Amino acid sequence: MAFKERVFSGVQPTGNLHLGNYLGAITKFVALQDTYDCIYCVVDLHAITVWQDPPDLKRTTREVTAAFIASGIDPKKQIIFNQSQVAEHAELAWVFNCVARLGWLNRMTQFKEKAGKDRENVSVGLYAYPNLMAADILVYRATHVPVGEDQKQHLELSRDIAQKFNVDFATSITSNGYGEVFFPLPEPIIQGPATRVMSLRDGSKKMSKSEPSDYSRINLTDDADTIAQKIRKAKTDPEALPSEEEGLKPRPEAENLVGIYAALQGTDKASVLREFGGSQFSVFKSALVDLSVAKLGPIGSEMKKLVQDPVYIDSILADGSARASVIAGETMKAVKDIVGFVRR
Ligand code: TRP
Repeated sequence: MAFKERVFSGVQPTGNLHLGNYLGAITKFVALQDTYDCIYCVVDLHAITVWQDPPDLKRTTREVTAAFIASGIDPKKQIIFNQSQVAEHAELAWVFNCVARLGWLNRMTQFKEKAGKDRENVSVGLYAYPNLMAADILVYRATHVPVGEDQKQHLELSRDIAQKFNVDFATSITSNGYGEVFFPLPEPIIQGPATRVMSLRDGSKKMSKSEPSDYSRINLTDDADTIAQKIRKAKTDPEALPSEEEGLKPRPEAENLVGIYAALQGTDKASVLREFGGSQFSVFKSALVDLSVAKLGPIGSEMKKLVQDPVYIDSILADGSARASVIAGETMKAVKDIVGFVRR
């Protein structure tokens, strides 16, 4: 059965958005809107699987929304909203809690990492999180999901849930007139290699909001001086840049900076090295500062302007939620028929 092609993705409103979020996710979201109908969700229900200070949660929800808009996602053509405003996410997640198997969730590496030694004391929500993610995608019957490497396993699980639902309820799907297969098996859109942005202090660690040193990351709201300072202080090694990509292999910090340059410029590492091979870091870093300030400066200042107008941001989220609800409501009605719930 052919499903209407549709993109769905989510970003958690936790902490400050940084260059890794921008290059790894948001720029991809922007590009996809030319080819697909896209639904971009600020996933506040996911955020509370670990403790969030309530005023901060509101602030970061609006901040992610501002980042979407400032980066160029069109909130009129696409749908931008926050998850908690569309109740069907939680509703379908419950049904999926009853479709997914305990053994499937026990294999989730992100849960194991996040729970660590403190397994008895993490929220039930953190464990069931992948089922909610499946509901996010499938409540819109989305076919394509841009995700980073770290979310691939969760997307696989979404496919397993969709598949099991289609098989378990096959008879009911048909007898209720919903065709042969109800849910599409959503496909990942995996980002290119240049988009894994690493810490500016340690090229072997991902750039992260939870790293204590702010010098490890470039926040989207950093001003030009801060961006310049952070890049100048970024860890490097004493050698000049190589001319071939091969030469970056044993040099994670060099590779990271070259990768950032390539991603911001919309090119690849090889062509950056064609330009800068043989240059000292002082020279390359100056160019990287200029490029970063040119690309990120306008986004940061637009974001700052937008977050000062929460009434406007909230109106975007309300409008997006209303449009999302129409699609989600239709899916949920059908799911109720298929599962056997009596409904109005
Ligand atoms: N789990 C994702 C993350 O932490 C966020 C997310 C929630 C998501 N629901 C989604 C991503 C649905 C893609 C599709 O990054």
